[in-house]
Amino acid sequence: MMKIAPSMLSCDFARFGEETARMEREGADLIHMDVMDAHFVPNLTFGAPIIKAVRKYSALPFDVHLMISDPLKYAEDFAKAGADIITFHIESDSPVEETINKIKSLGVKAALSVKPKTSVEEVFPYLDMLDMVLIMTVEPGFGGQSFMADMMPKVKKLREEINRRGLNVDIQVDGGISDKTIAVAAQNGANVFVAGSAVFAAPDSAQMIEKLRTLAAEAYNF
Ligand code: DX5
Ligand code: ZN
Repeated sequence: MMKIAPSMLSCDFARFGEETARMEREGADLIHMDVMDAHFVPNLTFGAPIIKAVRKYSALPFDVHLMISDPLKYAEDFAKAGADIITFHIESDSPVEETINKIKSLGVKAALSVKPKTSVEEVFPYLDMLDMVLIMTVEPGFGGQSFMADMMPKVKKLREEINRRGLNVDIQVDGGISDKTIAVAAQNGANVFVAGSAVFAAPDSAQMIEKLRTLAAEAYNF
């Protein structure tokens, strides 16, 4: 099933709650929250208290993308704030297996992400423990960057490995996803799509969400 996750990084933060509710009304499947610590990435966004405040505005799953150096230390805060999925980076300083177990022990789905320069094989040892893998299609840190088509072989290799093992693991792509780029990502095996600027800059974001989901469904062939 194809899922569209608007990245709230592109919303009007003065209306964070209402914008989240609007994304639910306009057909989003997940709410993607980008947490940055100005250490793991060169940008600073928001933390658990903000997510907790926004939580009551939508019943959709909160997909929390941690771009922070020590996800193990903060996982519990984000679980308590209402995260349904916690994604952390394999390049962070936290021990991977312990962090996955911690997230799952909190009753939250666990996902692992790789930056563009990290090979996808690095997640293979953890695949059986994961609900989702996020393949970054830009360098993490900022919205509005160009989609890196050269990440597609990583997506394909991962989908083939997941299928070979008979697992039910989602593949998410994040960065530069739009109506111009979503098809190739789906064609290579991605099924969860983060879209920030494409959704929020569209004149009609409900129509864009629907268009993205349709384009993905048509292109997915696994
Ligand atoms: C980038 C974030 C993304 C970002 C995507 O570090 O992880 O979620 O908001 O924005 P767009 O869709 O504009 O590339
Ligand atoms: Zn993100």
